[in-house]
Amino acid sequence: MKKILLSAAVSAIVLAPLGASAVSFKKPEDAIKYRQSTFTVMATHFGDLGAMVKGDKPFDAKAAQANADIVMTLSTLPWTGFGPGTEGGKAKPAIWKEMDKVKAGANDLQKATAELNKAAGTGNLENIKKAFAATQQTCKSCHDSYKDK
Ligand code: HEC
Repeated sequence: MKKILLSAAVSAIVLAPLGASAVSFKKPEDAIKYRQSTFTVMATHFGDLGAMVKGDKPFDAKAAQANADIVMTLSTLPWTGFGPGTEGGKAKPAIWKEMDKVKAGANDLQKATAELNKAAGTGNLENIKKAFAATQQTCKSCHDSYKDK
């Protein structure tokens, strides 16, 4: 089962490469607003799933799947908002010196959210719990390095 989940996750990444959603912004503030908004919406749906994982909210397989779908899609979006000259917000300036590492972190997130989506597809809360924790770890490791509190 684990192997099937992994290969499905890998193919999902091929379909959603980093920067697939590249758009251009008129001014840096627009890019900052864009990335913060996409993070906010992603986090809202991730948080709703988290409430089910923690038992704060009854588990609803359909709602969990809907949240996981949105999180997976949204995890591809914020990165286009980190173009050259868009320093600001709560993003640490180191991002623009270490873009390779940031992209690797974004990739880890996308892999994790693809797996989370597959786990949601099983309708099994235990599978979702594991994939949720793995995803949360990718959020944390990037925030620890690249996001101001
Ligand atoms: C590869 C790096 C990276 C990953 C992975 C990542 N984030 Fe972030 N996140 C950032 C950065 C950088 C900012 C600050 C953006 C800014 O203020 O311009 C941020 C900001 C946010 C914000 C605040 C938005 C605002 O309006 O201030 C939320 C909420 C958030 N992230 C949630 C998440 C969640 C949930 C995950 C995982 C599911 C996640 N992030 C994964 C880098 C990352």
